Amino acid sequence: MKFEDFLYTQEGEDLFEKTEGLDRVLSSSQMTGSEGLGVQMLEKAGPYVKIKERSGCEHEVIMLGSNSYLNLTTNKKVCDAAIKAIEKYGYGMGAVSVYAGISDIHKELEKRIANFYKTEDAVLFPSGYGTNIGVISALCSKEDIIINDSANHASIFDGSKLSGADVRVYPHNDMKALEHILEKCDKLNKPKLIITDGVFSMYGDIARLDKICELAHKWGAKVMVDDAHGLGIVGATGRGSAQVYGVENKIDLNVGMLSKTAGAVGGYCATTRKIAQYLRHYARSFFFSTALPAPTVAGLNEVFKLLEHDRAGRKELWQNINYIKEKLNKLGFNTGETQSGIVPIIIGDEQILFKMYQDLRLSGVYTNIVTYPAVRRKECRLRLCIMKDLTQAQIDRAVEIIAKIGKKYGII
Ligand SMILES: Cc1ncc(COP(=O)(O)O)c(C=O)c1O
Repeated sequence: MKFEDFLYTQEGEDLFEKTEGLDRVLSSSQMTGSEGLGVQMLEKAGPYVKIKERSGCEHEVIMLGSNSYLNLTTNKKVCDAAIKAIEKYGYGMGAVSVYAGISDIHKELEKRIANFYKTEDAVLFPSGYGTNIGVISALCSKEDIIINDSANHASIFDGSKLSGADVRVYPHNDMKALEHILEKCDKLNKPKLIITDGVFSMYGDIARLDKICELAHKWGAKVMVDDAHGLGIVGATGRGSAQVYGVENKIDLNVGMLSKTAGAVGGYCATTRKIAQYLRHYARSFFFSTALPAPTVAGLNEVFKLLEHDRAGRKELWQNINYIKEKLNKLGFNTGETQSGIVPIIIGDEQILFKMYQDLRLSGVYTNIVTYPAVRRKECRLRLCIMKDLTQAQIDRAVEIIAKIGKKYGII
C-alpha cells in the first residue's frame, strides 16, 4: 500500500489495528529515508533554515512552508517583549482564563484585537483550532443551521459537527449555491450562521464576502469569518478579507488565528460585548483550557501594534508573492486563483506530488503538500507559503529547483 492510499483506510477488527498499516507503510523500503510528512526545525523559523529529516539527515532548505508570512515569529521587538514578559510572569499561566490564567497583558491584547476590528470586545483562545470549535459549538445547537463553504478549514467542520446543528455545505465560493441553500432553509424558520474562511487555507483565494454579507442580510443569517490567513496580509491596510470587500462592519464573528501572520499560537473572536461575554461562559475550549502563556501574549501585543499601523512589512511581502507567482506562471505552473501569501502549485497526481515533495526538500526547498480530502485528488498540490524576508536570490534559487523537479515529473 502506498502512503497516500493508506491515509484514509483505517478500518480493522481490533481498535488499534489501524496503527499497523501506517507503521508498515512508513517503514517499508519505499518510505525509507525521509518520506512521510514532517521534519524537525533545528533553528528559528526564518526563510533559510536547517532541518532534520526523518532519516536523521540534517540539511538547509529555503523555507516555503511557514505561515509566519511577515516573519513576526523572529521579529526582534516581538521576541524582546516575550523575553521581558517571561521574567515578569514566568513561562506559563498555570490556570484557565476563567480562574487565574489571565494577566493584564492578556486583557491588553483582547482590547487591541477588538480595536483592530472596531468591535466592542474580543475573546482570546489558547489555540486556533480551539477557537473555531469553541465559538461554533457555543453559539449553535441542533435548533440552528450552519452553512459552510466546502473549502472551510477542518476546525470549522469539526466545530459544526460538535454543535449538533443542521450543517449544509455549498461548493467552494459558489454564491448561487449558497443562495439556494439559504432560500431552502428559510422555510425551516431556524437561526442560520454562514461560516467561511476569509482566505482559504488550501487555495489562497478570498471568500466573496460582499456577496455573502448581502445574502446573509437578505435571508436573515449571521456571518462568521475565519481570517487565519488574511490577517495582516490582505486588504488595503492589512485588515483582512472583510476589508478587501469593504464589509468590515458586517461580520458578526471575526475569528482569526495568532499562529499564522501573528507568528505565535492561539486564536480570537472579535465581536459584540454580549457575544464575547457569552463565549467566555459557554465556549468549552475557552472555559476548560489553560490561558496562553504571558510571553506569547506580550509578543502578540507588539505584533498588533505593528499591524494596527500596517507597519509589519506587508508591502515587502507582496513584492515577494508577486515575484514568485509571476516566475512560476511564466514557467507554466498552475498556481490557481490565489490572492494571498499562499501560492499553490497544482500537481493533480498524488504519487507525483509525494515524489516532488521529497525531491524538493532533498534539493533544498521545503514546501507543504495538500492532498485529498483537503482538496480533490485531481487538484492535489504543493502549497507554498511566502515570507517577507525571503531574498530575491532565495526565490530565484527555489524556483530554479521547482522548475527542474517539475520538468522531471512532466508537470511543466
Ligand atoms: C483557516 C484556518 N483556521 C484554523 C486553523 C487552526 O489554527 P491553529 O493552527 O492556530 O490551531 C488553521 C490552521 O491550519 C487555518 O488554516
